[in-house]
Amino acid sequence: MGSPGYVPLILALSASCFRAAAQLPLVINTWPFKDATQRAWDTLHSGGLALDAVEKGCSQCEFEQCDGTVGYGGSPDEHGETTLDAMIMNGNTIEVGAVGNLRRIKSAISVARAVMEHSSHSLLVGESASIFAQNMGFLSEDLTSNTSLSIHAEWLSKKCQPNYWKNVFPSAKTSCGPYKRKEGQWSKRHRMPAHVVDVHNHDTIGMIVIDKSRSIVAGTSTNGATHKIPGRVGDSPIVGAGAYADSTAGAAAATGMGDIMMRFLPSYQAVEYMRLGMEPTTACQKVIARIQKYYPKFFGAIICANRTGGYGAACSKCPGFNQFHFMVHNPSGTSEQIVDCI
Ligand SMILES: *[C@@H]1O[C@H](CO)[C@@H](O)[C@H](O)[C@H]1NC(C)=O
Ligand SMILES: *[C@@H]1O[C@H](CO)[C@@H](O)[C@H](O)[C@H]1NC(C)=O
Repeated sequence: MGSPGYVPLILALSASCFRAAAQLPLVINTWPFKDATQRAWDTLHSGGLALDAVEKGCSQCEFEQCDGTVGYGGSPDEHGETTLDAMIMNGNTIEVGAVGNLRRIKSAISVARAVMEHSSHSLLVGESASIFAQNMGFLSEDLTSNTSLSIHAEWLSKKCQPNYWKNVFPSAKTSCGPYKRKEGQWSKRHRMPAHVVDVHNHDTIGMIVIDKSRSIVAGTSTNGATHKIPGRVGDSPIVGAGAYADSTAGAAAATGMGDIMMRFLPSYQAVEYMRLGMEPTTACQKVIARIQKYYPKFFGAIICANRTGGYGAACSKCPGFNQFHFMVHNPSGTSEQIVDCI
């Protein structure tokens, strides 16, 4: 029956459906890393598969050093060295290739793909991963830049502040290391220096591509947390944490405080929510809410895409971070999209 409220309701529904209309193919990535989005889209357009599109898209960021937080020459560790973490996951076969703490090789996501395609392993780390990469034909070169040198020099001049140590002697709040374990009474409370990984330190590209054949691939690439303790590997190369893809359900990719987020396997969880029929936006929000129960002030965001090309995102509100920007490209065009944090 034509009640007065009926027509406006339909209009409102179709408006929201139009906004997140499910269309394929789809490229979606964290942060306004536009060139990466375009490169992935162009790769699909010229006949590439989802796997190629994710590799090329993330490679673009590694090459451009997106915000200094992806690729060489950014986020030096305590020794001043830049090391890289990356992953790629094939949602058709549930194969994964990843590298953690990769040294002296610029193209981390391509090395991750080589781990997937030229070994039966899923994750290689550190110096040995670099040797693997060299054997696979990747060039070994210094990842240091003038920027990473100056970030490290400034950190040293500020008595190594901020840093990621706790319960050590001498106090990590006032001194550089080397540190020793502090015996006796100490606080068990979590200490995460908010200004180490924050909104100005975007930290990761996470990308999901669904191609015309409905193959879903997800990938990540990052140079990790600035001033990290050497050996630290974040969430990005950890399957289910940094990203996850299953062509029968969908994919997700996370960004933010990896040390916290990886404890919740947020990308895996989001995909499982979508498998149960949840809308991508709701799946993303539920994952963020779960982490907030334990870490109410954590900085992080996640993108979600279901198998028919519906997508969404969510982020955790914290000081200086109220909105999360991400990129979408589908047959309707390319756009930078914004979501309000919860
Ligand atoms: C770093 O700075 C030095 C001195 O200013 C300059 O000569 C050199 O070309 C710079 N290196 C890079 C990689 O930009
Ligand atoms: C995917 O998400 C879109 C947009 O939210 C929705 O319309 C569509 O029904 C979802 N597809 C599946 C298979 O759940």
